[in-house]
Amino acid sequence: MLLVSKRNLLLLIFLTASIPVLSQTAHWSDKAHWITIGYEEDSVLRPCPIFRKTYKINKSIRSATLYITALGLYEATMNNKRVGKAYFTPGWTSYDKRLQYQVYDVKPLLKKGDNEINVTVGEGWYRGPFGGLMQRDNYGKEAGLLFRLDITYADGSSDVLVSDSSWQSGTGPILHSDIYGGEIYDARIATKEWFIVKILDHSKSILVPTDCEAVEKQEHFKPLRIFTTPKGEQVIDFGQNMSGWVRLSVKGKAGDTIKLMHAEVLDKEGNFYMGNLRQAKATDIYILKGNGKETFEPHFTYHGFRYAKVEGCTAQNNDFTAIALYTALQHTGSFSCSNPLINQLQHNIEWSLNSNFFDIPTDCPQRSERLGWTGDAHIFYRTASFNRNVKRFFAKWLQDLKTDQRENGSVPNIIPNIYQNLAGANKKGVAGWGDAAVIIPWEQYLAYGDTAILREHYASMKAWVDYIQSASKDDLWTVNGYGDWLAPGDSTSLPFIDQCFWTNSTQLLVNAAGVVGNTADVGHYTELLKRIKKTFIEKYVNIDGKMISDTQTAYVLALQFDMLPDSLREQAVKRLVALIRGNNNHLSTGFLGTPYILHVLSRLGYSNVAFDILNQESSPSWLYPVKMNATTTWEKWDAIKLDSSVQTTSYNHYAYGAVGDWLYQVVAGIDIDSLAYGKIVIRPHIGGGLKSVRAVYHCKYGKIISEWRLKSKKLKILVNVPKGPLTIVYIPGKESRKVGSGKHVFEGEASTINSIHKF
Ligand code: BGC
Repeated sequence: MLLVSKRNLLLLIFLTASIPVLSQTAHWSDKAHWITIGYEEDSVLRPCPIFRKTYKINKSIRSATLYITALGLYEATMNNKRVGKAYFTPGWTSYDKRLQYQVYDVKPLLKKGDNEINVTVGEGWYRGPFGGLMQRDNYGKEAGLLFRLDITYADGSSDVLVSDSSWQSGTGPILHSDIYGGEIYDARIATKEWFIVKILDHSKSILVPTDCEAVEKQEHFKPLRIFTTPKGEQVIDFGQNMSGWVRLSVKGKAGDTIKLMHAEVLDKEGNFYMGNLRQAKATDIYILKGNGKETFEPHFTYHGFRYAKVEGCTAQNNDFTAIALYTALQHTGSFSCSNPLINQLQHNIEWSLNSNFFDIPTDCPQRSERLGWTGDAHIFYRTASFNRNVKRFFAKWLQDLKTDQRENGSVPNIIPNIYQNLAGANKKGVAGWGDAAVIIPWEQYLAYGDTAILREHYASMKAWVDYIQSASKDDLWTVNGYGDWLAPGDSTSLPFIDQCFWTNSTQLLVNAAGVVGNTADVGHYTELLKRIKKTFIEKYVNIDGKMISDTQTAYVLALQFDMLPDSLREQAVKRLVALIRGNNNHLSTGFLGTPYILHVLSRLGYSNVAFDILNQESSPSWLYPVKMNATTTWEKWDAIKLDSSVQTTSYNHYAYGAVGDWLYQVVAGIDIDSLAYGKIVIRPHIGGGLKSVRAVYHCKYGKIISEWRLKSKKLKILVNVPKGPLTIVYIPGKESRKVGSGKHVFEGEASTINSIHKF
């Protein structure tokens, strides 16, 4: 049960979402040293080290600024008060080459007299077991801390306190903590012995200031119900699948142990199900101190869950709170309509966005994966950018993409590339994944009109396209990657997909070259484009106009990426429609076909078919999971079967939520492409049995509202647009209208409500 009303919550998030730290560049003096532990570490559990320093302040403080980072994840306290509200700091980057530090105003935490500073360092992505192979020490073996505190006194004098050999280290109550596994916390333990730290030889030239939002605590949920499963397990249902953890507040004897396990779903019989988590133990263990009410929250782990299984106490409603944690992005959009199932779909899309925008764009938040899969990120980019301000979030991730891009231009499938130090790792870049290097900068440009992002990444975009060319033969790219990942129908030829994505990336590179004014590249890549399209037609399109793979995805990609000459387009879209109708308005698309299918249909005059797919309630479809009570979007269309049997898959994957941008862009009609070019275009598509639609989008010019209502066959369109750009509203059955800023109401023609705009 959510504790704050949704409206207040949105407002709250909107007002508080910010970069939680000061945006400032540190001057890392030579005196600040990397420090590590000065004792022998237990090599199995590796308890989280605490670094400690006491410091006497004799004068009144005017300002105190902390610069801090770690090899691992840090949590700092000053006089037992936590520094900042950011979690999972310093964040995840390509640690070998880029390590963020954060800057905090800590004046309120310090006092005249003795001050105690403690920094606990968890293993995190840096050295905890992470990645499909559960490999430890992916970036380094030793925990480390780098710290600098600048204090200016009221009398104008100043002091600098840095991490150096005067610090101490020891272990405390966190006996073990890893991102997948969970945390073991023994509240009885206080650090017994302190050891002088060791100076660590680690680069400071890799340090970069943080310039994006951090992971923060967001919503709090009280148990919806506490129940006993057929197996006799005590389980709490928090009502929402999320990323985060459970806070518990309990009383007991010293040594009493409470175990909390986390899961997304119950199995067919109604038992607690962790079978889809792969190697993630997702278990927090709390050992009580035994002195009254004790509150526990983990520090350096998170779980993807809706349910928690509790052992070691009788769970009482008031004692448990689920806390959602994720990157604090500003809300920029909302979509609602008269169909509650579609509204729930929008809710599920937003919750998979929340759960997976966790410092980097992850594929899933629950199993032993949670990686920055490039394909998923670009597929979902547009939907994400309608709903949240993702500019800085992706600016950070693109820096890591650029950093991890290989010398030959190929792009790893996951960013940051945790596998880069593994011997024998596959060094190829694959279609539909590596293309994120081109698609995301281009989408950032469209969404935020920011040419700087194109300039910044132009070389990386070009390197990816050049890499494909170097890996191709006779203008054919046959890399055989993941293909139309998880498509439920017939599979689409891999080389066909390769050629389509190569074409798309080349086209976007030509567009980008135009924007940055590189006319030589415009010419060069336009030539390449012609050749690869020609080869595509020769190799992959039969004389009768059918694609060599007669699948929905094949037609979708050929049409979306403009692979076909005018003469073949009409029959291609007709074939697509026939395949959809033949499949009783079900999708048969996977990760690569799904994001584009409804767009292609709407653009080519078949919004009615698109609406029929959207309204489909049996699997494969978007509304099937909704009917099965999903609260997030699933990795597979039928993750829970009709007979309630569950699959070993992710119940919180945003990829299929990519339909979200069609809701904003086509159903409500807010056209994002035009925005980049200084125009607002509103072109709602009426249909799908909807009686009303309302979308709000905060674009770079201000707030756009697009709304339509259908009553007794009368259509009313209401728009509200900001000052500045020229706005054009397309009204079904009527002439388009140019309007100024402010509110406008138009009447459309009822008889033409299903008519489609061809453009
Ligand atoms: C991930 C995906 C990813 C895929 C690559 C999966 O394990 O969860 O979302 O894109 O691998 O095929």
